[in-house]
Amino acid sequence: MRVVLLGSGRGSNAAAILEAQHAGKLGRAKVVQILSDKPDAKILELGPRFDVRAEFVDPAPFKTKLEGEGETRFIAAVNAAQADLVVLAGFMRVLKLGFLNAFVGKIINLHPSLLPSFPGLDGIGQAFRRGVKITGCTVHGVTAEVDGGPIIDQMAVSIEPTDTLESLTEKIHAAEHALLPAVIARLSEG
Ligand code: GAR
Repeated sequence: MRVVLLGSGRGSNAAAILEAQHAGKLGRAKVVQILSDKPDAKILELGPRFDVRAEFVDPAPFKTKLEGEGETRFIAAVNAAQADLVVLAGFMRVLKLGFLNAFVGKIINLHPSLLPSFPGLDGIGQAFRRGVKITGCTVHGVTAEVDGGPIIDQMAVSIEPTDTLESLTEKIHAAEHALLPAVIARLSEG
């Protein structure tokens, strides 16, 4: 199963996936390409580290969504990689119908809350400020509804009275780093 990773930021989840692959724990999945919409994103530094092609793809003309020429460029890059699975690992842009229709049923997203609670931006902060006692992370299929596609798997994280936003963020990231590679491995094994 050929996997393409899309990310906009530090890429800790992409690193967890590549480390799992290195350790033989990614099932029949193989990461073949990393793509970012930010030229200076740390996620691109994983390319040379793990010997995977990593590229910036210009997402213009829009700021927060992927549509128009930028969308066409991303579709071409994913097609060139012959992806069986597209993993959004911290890709902070809303996908539109052109991309979604090009890869129907092949796109999964990671979100830092127990969806359907706290969709959208800052899922960790939203849960912390709301004062819930249990939050977590979700891997779901991507549809046109932002953070609304079918839930594939989740991992719960408890919020203790002593937790700060920083300590909760660390716990969520640790859960994500376990959940996402495990889901990819499972999907690759059918
Ligand atoms: C992750 O916490 C992921 O859940 C979140 O971005 C972070 C990326 O971290 N994604 C979203 O909020 C999507 N709505 P990373 O770049 O270190 O993997």
